[in-house]
Amino acid sequence: MSEVIRTHFFDYEEDSRLEERNIHFWRALAGHVQADRSLLPGGVVLDIGCHRGGLLELLHERFRPAKLIGLEPLVSARRVAGQRMSRFTSQTLLFGAEGWSSIPNAEVDLVVGHEVLQYISDLSQLMTGIRRCLTPGGFAYLALGCHTENPLWATWRHELEELGHRVYDHSPLEIMAAGARAGLAPSVRPLRDTGWAYHDPTASESFSYPSVEALLEHQFRHKLLFRFECRV
Ligand SMILES: C[S@@+](CC[C@H](N)C(=O)[O-])C[C@H]1O[C@@H](n2cnc3c(N)ncnc32)[C@H](O)[C@@H]1O
Repeated sequence: MSEVIRTHFFDYEEDSRLEERNIHFWRALAGHVQADRSLLPGGVVLDIGCHRGGLLELLHERFRPAKLIGLEPLVSARRVAGQRMSRFTSQTLLFGAEGWSSIPNAEVDLVVGHEVLQYISDLSQLMTGIRRCLTPGGFAYLALGCHTENPLWATWRHELEELGHRVYDHSPLEIMAAGARAGLAPSVRPLRDTGWAYHDPTASESFSYPSVEALLEHQFRHKLLFRFECRV
């Protein structure tokens, strides 16, 4: 998992808009963590692909963890995350994608990752890393719409490749199997299955939808939340 040699993930403006687009999904993810009571105050959180630290900030506000760790290969995003996290009351640590080796065994109570699996080729290596750093009884929540069961993935995959990203095809069952092989108990649900579908068709050319039907199908059916439990 090498350092991403790019200045921005999309470009400066798109990177800023990424947060506006994703905050609704981060809130849904945090809501599931809250409902499951899978993070208690004083816990340790790891965000894989934390970009500018927006999800970590939300988790900091909601759960007041003792420590937040972010893994982010993109140097510019990591820098913004560092500035933002310097205001947190919790201890904060940021690493590039190779930062796994700096995380001690059984240190993390909650692992999160939002739309990052499509950039990671080796799911076995990833799940082994998650299993190693989770505390017994800890959970990982990985949200992903960019998987092979989503009919929009073929178009989005092409758009990402045109922008110079290296992306990988993963099926939901492959993702769950990789977790199970690493010793984690997998489960899955739509990240959101009801409510308002947020989308501004004028805001971005990439990640577009051909119809409202496709938008609803994506947001309430294909955008999945995988949960992996590290059983004691
Ligand atoms: C689509 S963005 C999502 C960012 C953020 N999670 C969010 O919800 O807005 C994917 C992020 O994963 C990062 N990434 C790519 N490869 C990675 C890897 N091997 N390990 C960790 N993060 C990675 C990218 O640099 C980028 O910031």
